[in-house]
Amino acid sequence: MGCRATVRELVVGEAGVGMFADGRPMAEVLAELEALHAGDEPGRGRPGVANTFDSGSASVEQVAVRAFDLYLHVNGLYPTSFPSVATLEHQVVAAVGEMVHAPPGAAGSWTSGGTESCLLAAKAARDARPDIEHPEIVFARSAHAAWAKAAKYFGLEPVIVDIDPVRMTAEVDAVERAITDRTVLVVVSAPSYGHGVVDPIPEIATICARLGVRCHVDACIGGWVLPFAEQLGRPVPDWDFRVPGVDSISVDLHKYGYAPKGCSIVLYRTAAMRRTQYFVASDWTGYPVVNSTMQSSKSGGLIAAAWAVLRHIGADGYRALVTRTLDATRELVDGIAEIDGLRVLGTPATSLVAVTTDGVDFFPFLDELERLGWAVQPQLSQTGIPPTIHLTMTATHGPHVADLLGALRAAVLAARARGPLPTAEQLRFVDELAAQAASDAGVSADGLTELMVKAGLLTDGRMAPVHALLDTLPPQLRENVLLAFFEGLNPPL
Ligand SMILES: Cc1ncc(COP(=O)(O)O)c(C=O)c1O
Repeated sequence: MGCRATVRELVVGEAGVGMFADGRPMAEVLAELEALHAGDEPGRGRPGVANTFDSGSASVEQVAVRAFDLYLHVNGLYPTSFPSVATLEHQVVAAVGEMVHAPPGAAGSWTSGGTESCLLAAKAARDARPDIEHPEIVFARSAHAAWAKAAKYFGLEPVIVDIDPVRMTAEVDAVERAITDRTVLVVVSAPSYGHGVVDPIPEIATICARLGVRCHVDACIGGWVLPFAEQLGRPVPDWDFRVPGVDSISVDLHKYGYAPKGCSIVLYRTAAMRRTQYFVASDWTGYPVVNSTMQSSKSGGLIAAAWAVLRHIGADGYRALVTRTLDATRELVDGIAEIDGLRVLGTPATSLVAVTTDGVDFFPFLDELERLGWAVQPQLSQTGIPPTIHLTMTATHGPHVADLLGALRAAVLAARARGPLPTAEQLRFVDELAAQAASDAGVSADGLTELMVKAGLLTDGRMAPVHALLDTLPPQLRENVLLAFFEGLNPPL
């Protein structure tokens, strides 16, 4: 009791808040913004936690900024007022379609990101089957959380199937068994975010085609790597529209397309499949609304920037970026194989690598890595799947691989000499957390902060002990705690 720190103060410090009384000169405003931004992760350079994508080319950034500037006031809601937006969208959809071998008659849309593309593919599949009263969606535990979100938002029953514990891919038989006459969509990944592996897409798509169920390939993160990898003669499994039974595909350009955040493409084998994605309303007192996506008003700057980046880099530029990315990934994976105490899960198909410990406690290892200045992304354990660190390798990471391997080696050595995390002392707080969760108010941001301070967490900004504790919690309590924590970052006024 008596602790007045908030999650926000502990994690990001206390910024002054209040009404912006007097307007300030531009230079002052920008200086203020720069000062705030100084505490952020750099967003480029070494592989880190924030999964930002940097091509390493100044002109790629400049062309995006100039294009955004040009389209600053353009509203993507109105392709009739701004016909160039329709042109840009169509050209980007066509460019992505060409790379994923979309057949004649395929159709797609520009969306704000991977999650929106996934949500729309799910909505389109659901609304194509109004005859099914309680629709279901089938995906593996390795599918991105966007699919659980789609299920929740659109009232679909999620049917989650296990993955092969060695390959980390969806089990074909399990998927087949999960499909019922209420299934409106089956989702496979190319590759999965968590372990970077491609599901057995031809096998699953064949089953879907036989049973008359839509099959979506979530290639949000790998869809702009795999086509160029194939062109470069690297081994790539079958995954795109050339596979019979694949009905829709999502590809994010704000990842390996190196466009600024806010651009993904969702494509359907036929325009008829896309039709149920749209929302149309004219029976209200305002203007007739036709939305191809979830957003209505939307920044024209983002599609202009994505278009400009694509046009500027071109296929040859992407092949060069993918070469650097895959070479860096190979060097990392080969290096990890030499480190006693570490293991890569599955066989990374592109540039995503999940690493766990073998015979060494994972969270002390993570803590030591963080202490060495590598704040990489942890992935918590799931039933039968150990916790991992996740590395999204990009075109600029090659020069950092040797340093990273050195840090991984040192972190393993240091972790061997340490006791486990969470400590016995910290574990005592799990009961208190569970009691909070069971109370009428549930876990609150303030209550959580108080417990964290008592447990000696967050005071030095280190996140590994927090993740270690989270990892011990049952799923529901874990989610309650995460919710309270993030609510606390934007506290009530
Ligand atoms: C396979 C996959 N699907 C969906 C998403 C969600 O994308 P976004 O974060 O752009 O919404 C991601 C993000 O990494 C992903 O890897």
